[in-house]
Amino acid sequence: MPATIIKNGTVVTADLTYKADVKIENGVITEIGPNLSGGDELDATGCYVMPGGIDPHVHLEMPFMGTYSADDFESGTRAGLAGGTTTVVDFCLPDPGQSLLDALKRWDNKSTRANCDYSFHMAITWWGEQVFNEMETVVREKGINTFKHFMAYKGALMVNDDELFASFQRCAELGALPLVHAENGDVVASMQAKLLAEGNNGPEGHAYSRPAEVEGEATNRAIMIADMAGVPLYVVHTSCEQAHEAIRRARQAGKRVYGEPLIQHLTLDESEYFHKDWDHAARRVMSPPFRNKQHQDSLWAGLQSGSLQVVATDHCAFTTEQKRYGVGDFTKIPNGTGGLEDRLPMLWTYGVSTGRLTPNEFVAVTSTNIAKILNMYPKKGAILVGADADIVVLDPEKEKTISAKTQQSAIDYNVFEGKHVKGLPRFTLSRGKVVVHDGEIRTEEGHGKFVAREPFQAVNKALSTWKELVAPRPVERTGIPASGV
Ligand code: URP
Ligand code: ZN
Ligand code: ZN
Ligand code: ZN
Repeated sequence: MPATIIKNGTVVTADLTYKADVKIENGVITEIGPNLSGGDELDATGCYVMPGGIDPHVHLEMPFMGTYSADDFESGTRAGLAGGTTTVVDFCLPDPGQSLLDALKRWDNKSTRANCDYSFHMAITWWGEQVFNEMETVVREKGINTFKHFMAYKGALMVNDDELFASFQRCAELGALPLVHAENGDVVASMQAKLLAEGNNGPEGHAYSRPAEVEGEATNRAIMIADMAGVPLYVVHTSCEQAHEAIRRARQAGKRVYGEPLIQHLTLDESEYFHKDWDHAARRVMSPPFRNKQHQDSLWAGLQSGSLQVVATDHCAFTTEQKRYGVGDFTKIPNGTGGLEDRLPMLWTYGVSTGRLTPNEFVAVTSTNIAKILNMYPKKGAILVGADADIVVLDPEKEKTISAKTQQSAIDYNVFEGKHVKGLPRFTLSRGKVVVHDGEIRTEEGHGKFVAREPFQAVNKALSTWKELVAPRPVERTGIPASGV
């Protein structure tokens, strides 16, 4: 493959902004500097050359609520690349009672179609000796160092506190990072039943059944359990002030807790569920639900101050036909929304163009922080010599109106329909391959490779060192009373 040179652009990383050309050979960055030559040139005049987006939270072809999410590894990763995202992290979901390693084979099969690189989190959906043992194989041999726990979806994916504690302790031993979907699943299930009994069966019932307090409580509980187990914690789809507050407070107290707002929660609000059109409301049903403006302001402030570190999509797209499984019973509406193609342009438009985020902060929360937290930096998330050439060349003047008619996703609508975005990829490169070229999609099915992630060294080590230092110890006493007196 001849070298590629990205010419005349401004390199923007999480900590630096500077004019330079970037040379790529055999899928990696080999030179960064002025006036580079000797390869096919891509003109980045007027553009920002940034690490490609990493989406730490997607569900492609996910078996869920009696169906499968409609975007698979082909359409989902094509959508991501079209919007400048070059790596996705999906969740391997064993059925209750199923071997983790058997489930992983299913995910390995599905992901062979990926257009961009991908990695996996492993979900802990049940607990037992087999899970305990297989977690070690998953970490040491399968390149997966993150384990997801659902505190909601009672009767399906949910695990209880004793299981959380057991799994978190195992994560601590293995140098792995636990993730949680934090909502109180027992309370949600009871509220759902009550709402239905009272005749609240429309999509607004979904929002009523999952208030912010339910998420805040579970976030606090997960943080406490992680602290007891001596392990860092990553809270997925942080959507409200109560959850953010818990994360903020934990971090202020020296705990290693990360929070992940979604682009949907940052830009869409709860009024969507009160729309007169059933389809409109149901298409936006996801957990946690969209919140009000005060919660959105809290999430933005978290990104600005660093108490929240990353922005994801939780891309889990269902067609209108699938959403209609829940007509007459909102608890049967498949939970999930799309966003892979829109995350970067929406965050640039509503984050950078509004002055809430700097371009460097944008790179941090869409790419670099994620690569560091999930242990794939600097292979991913960096413009550095030796890093994979996963690059988005973002043209801040390029604009469009988001529409399902022109999207890559396989579904028939878009929750951001009608939003005008400014700041779009002129080029996207996936390990050096130009997959978006001035509006033209040139993805290649199967080009994506699995990204293995090593167990964590620094953070888990620091935490276990501290935990050992402050561990309970018997007091060495001098005056011991005679027994039986
Ligand atoms: O509603 C959602 N978020 N669907 C995807 C599964 C999950 O909870 O992340
Ligand atoms: Zn979730
Ligand atoms: Zn999810
Ligand atoms: Zn290829």
